[in-house]
Amino acid sequence: MDDSPAITSANPSAENPATTVVKPADKPAPARPASAAAKPPITTEEKKPEPGRVRRRLIWSAVWAYLAANFLMFLRFFFPRALFEPSTVHNIGYPSDFALGVNEKFKQAYRIWVVKEPDRLFVIFARCTHLGCTPDWKPNENKFKCPCHGSGYTPEGINFEGPAPRPMDRAHVELDPTGAIVVDTSRLYTWDRSKGGRDEFNDPGAYIPV
Ligand code: FES
Repeated sequence: MDDSPAITSANPSAENPATTVVKPADKPAPARPASAAAKPPITTEEKKPEPGRVRRRLIWSAVWAYLAANFLMFLRFFFPRALFEPSTVHNIGYPSDFALGVNEKFKQAYRIWVVKEPDRLFVIFARCTHLGCTPDWKPNENKFKCPCHGSGYTPEGINFEGPAPRPMDRAHVELDPTGAIVVDTSRLYTWDRSKGGRDEFNDPGAYIPV
């Protein structure tokens, strides 16, 4: 025998006006909280970033860019811009390697001629004293000739024709401990006769006795 109490309610419109069984499924749904029910749908307008946030992002981007640029400049400090120029000091061999006369072996590489005479060896820096062109050695004419404006020089580099104002310069030469010739084209000896300059061609370092 079922002892559970029957749920009854008054229902005037039912066929049986006396009682009506109310099933659990017919219970009314619990009421949603008022706040959830009242929440409006999210629109695309609300998804747009606020103007203040955009401004803050721009400001922070500028700050980070500024800091990054400064950091790169700081790193650049450790890599100084250096100009590596070719060396001006060259070992060109031994005096016995050269025959008497003008030797052009090092003209292309070091811009010099090696000149050997019976009692000395010296090195002419291959630069015309007019405007700096590189003259040519003319063995058949036994002279240097500048292709730019026609200056001519003797085998010793002394000017005798054309606009060149003075002899070509001579580079510093010395012997190292092994007896090899070391040339330094950053140390030049001159003889500016047109200005009454002193003849430096006989200074120590301007030639090597042989
Ligand atoms: S540069 Fe050599 S003659 Fe003018």
